[in-house]
Amino acid sequence: MLCKGVWHSIQKNSQPRLLHHVPKSPLPGEPAKPYTLCDVPGPRSQALMKEFSKIQQVGSIQYFADYQRSVGNYLADIDGNVFLDMFMQLAMVPLGYNHRSILGALSCAGNQRIIANRPALGLYPGLEWPCKLEDTLLQPCVAPKGLPCVFTAMCGACANEHAIQMAFIKYADRLRGSEDFTDEEKETAPYNKPPGCPELSILSFDGAFHGRTFGALALTHYKYMMKIDIPSLPWPIARYPHYMYPLDEYEKENRKEDDKCLDEVKKLIEDYEKKMPVAGIIVEAIQSEGGDRHASPDFFHCLQDIAKKKKIPLILDEIQTGGGATGRIWAHEYFELNSPPDMVTFSSKMQASGVYHTPEYMPKHPYRVFSAYMGDPTKILILEAVLQAIEAEDLLTHVCHVSNYLLCQLNALQQEFPELISAVRGRGFIIGFDAATTDLKNKIRLALLSRGVQVGDSGSKSIRLRPCLIFGEYHADIFIDTLRCCLRDIEES
Ligand SMILES: Cc1ncc(COP(=O)(O)O)c(C=O)c1O
Repeated sequence: MLCKGVWHSIQKNSQPRLLHHVPKSPLPGEPAKPYTLCDVPGPRSQALMKEFSKIQQVGSIQYFADYQRSVGNYLADIDGNVFLDMFMQLAMVPLGYNHRSILGALSCAGNQRIIANRPALGLYPGLEWPCKLEDTLLQPCVAPKGLPCVFTAMCGACANEHAIQMAFIKYADRLRGSEDFTDEEKETAPYNKPPGCPELSILSFDGAFHGRTFGALALTHYKYMMKIDIPSLPWPIARYPHYMYPLDEYEKENRKEDDKCLDEVKKLIEDYEKKMPVAGIIVEAIQSEGGDRHASPDFFHCLQDIAKKKKIPLILDEIQTGGGATGRIWAHEYFELNSPPDMVTFSSKMQASGVYHTPEYMPKHPYRVFSAYMGDPTKILILEAVLQAIEAEDLLTHVCHVSNYLLCQLNALQQEFPELISAVRGRGFIIGFDAATTDLKNKIRLALLSRGVQVGDSGSKSIRLRPCLIFGEYHADIFIDTLRCCLRDIEES
């Protein structure tokens, strides 16, 4: 049985399908425990940072890692510290460090010429490229149901840029009917003027993070530091649900919150109709950077209904949530939508980046959604190895099982320290909890790091856990014991 306060539909959807045997031991090559030999960052990291600061802004660097010595769930630094990594490079690492399948794929002689010759995929794709896509991104158990087309891209933000371009192109096409572009459109487009560049918008949500390229940044709304001084686009921003926890105690309040947010979406679309019609809605399946905020399956059902009524696409950003992190390949599978979302963007754990979409969003003309590289075949080789490991090791079942275990332990800890932590929540390994204050969140994160556990944060008060798919109960126990020690120390200080 799951504990109280865990996201209610986890109970329904992610109970382990098999009785999965999870050995409580470190994985081959891993140390028994994390350890720290000095403060973090240590003296070697600090010295290198000083040097590096001559050529780059280093304020974001936590420490320099030693990828030769890192293994499985453990990230080593250049000062001899070895961290249990529950953040995994901003949630991007699927199988831990130096996984044999990935190393094998990259050292395989047959793959060398794919790695060595990076093509312009929109112009001269290799003979094997369509097959590689079929065998990886387009496998029936990988591609989101109902989305048979995929456009590969360079990064997460690029994937979102391409998705919104497809939305705009489709919207303009629909208004234009079957006619070709007018002369006026052709003349005005190069100079950013209507009618060639029409006044259209994309609706996004408060707290969203969709990337840092120009369009994606206009859809991103949480830290001022990301946006300040950069001109942006006056597009509509709706409220994203802020739930009260535990969910089963606040069902009525949270349903009201959904309604309030959905009403705002409808109103914004109406308000923008005359000045800058909304051509698409973009939303994270779980709002990650903005504070690990979950919205209910009902919220997504209604959002999809609104999009359908307006004949605009619902674009699900699964960049942080895709690739098996939730115990399914895509988090939106849990929503059981009545029909597929129109587009799903991916990157991070999937290694390759891009947009899945329905055939209707395929541009009629070449070069309209395009880039020089259009992705990277090397990332598909890695993805191939990752997908094989997910299947061979039954990692989705493993994620469901271990995440249930971890959430139960975290819930127990929340009851032990109710003044310090609250709102434990998660789907699979997309797990978060809140500290009572921002200051306390920072204290907890640093206390964990000094004891050898790397976690992330999100929003103003949330601790963010993003272990990789091979994180086991053994590692969960280490984390819970370490967190308990940190909370005790904080309580006593
Ligand atoms: C939800 C979401 N969207 C977009 C992005 C941007 O991806 P990238 O940094 O690869 O451009 C991220 C990155 O973490 C993300 O989490």
